[in-house]
Amino acid sequence: MGKGKLVKWLENRTFERVFEPPLQAAVEGVEFVHKGKWREDVFGNDHPIVLELGCGKGEYTVGQARKYPDKNFVGVDIKGHRFWRGAKTANQEELKNVAFLRTRIEFIDRFFAPGEVDEVWITFSDPQPKDEKGTKRITSSIFIERYKKFLKPGSLVHIKSDSPLLYELSKESYLEAGYDILVDSQDVYGELVHRVDPELRELLEIRTFYEQMWLEEGRKIHYMQLRV
Ligand SMILES: C[S@@+](CC[C@H](N)C(=O)[O-])C[C@H]1O[C@@H](n2cnc3c(N)ncnc32)[C@H](O)[C@@H]1O
Repeated sequence: MGKGKLVKWLENRTFERVFEPPLQAAVEGVEFVHKGKWREDVFGNDHPIVLELGCGKGEYTVGQARKYPDKNFVGVDIKGHRFWRGAKTANQEELKNVAFLRTRIEFIDRFFAPGEVDEVWITFSDPQPKDEKGTKRITSSIFIERYKKFLKPGSLVHIKSDSPLLYELSKESYLEAGYDILVDSQDVYGELVHRVDPELRELLEIRTFYEQMWLEEGRKIHYMQLRV
């Protein structure tokens, strides 16, 4: 184990809104102590909640939190040393509307109650090409059914990806699950940013760690916006 990771894990424990409950509890079906009470308990307000699933370093969580102080943002990832970056920045900038949760997204419904979440972002999730049943791909039908449990009707889901395969599979699964596609582009920077309103454009221009790598390799970025 790298020393860097250990230092980050230890520092995560000092952040007020970083939650790293034992994974085994989630496996056994134990409900998270703040489930259904994120607004009151964690943020002390009644603002909407936006999740970033598979958040990595949490660029969308922190980037949006700066822009929208009247919304709450929760980054979720199984790798605490990755979201340490976002948690550290939120702490330094005193962003009170940011939290991070370390868990496996397979158990996400232990953490959020029906109707508790208003919006979801999923950026550059792993394509998992061999996962035919969709048990690992976090945009497969199995996962989409889980998200439906806590999303309010009418909520928006945003997907950004470099992988045409993942993009098409995700689109198929969301359509099957009855979501409406509001925006669909296979080239965010080549065409989409020129035809959307300035607010969405600014959001789309947040670049995650993985996105930056794929852009440097010359890959095109895909984006889909869906409504539950
Ligand atoms: C390819 S990275 C993308 C990270 C970030 N969104 C970005 O664009 O830079 C995928 C992230 O999803 C996380 N992840 C993948 N499957 C997960 C799961 N089932 N539960 C929780 N996190 C998961 C990984 O730990 C990793 O940080």
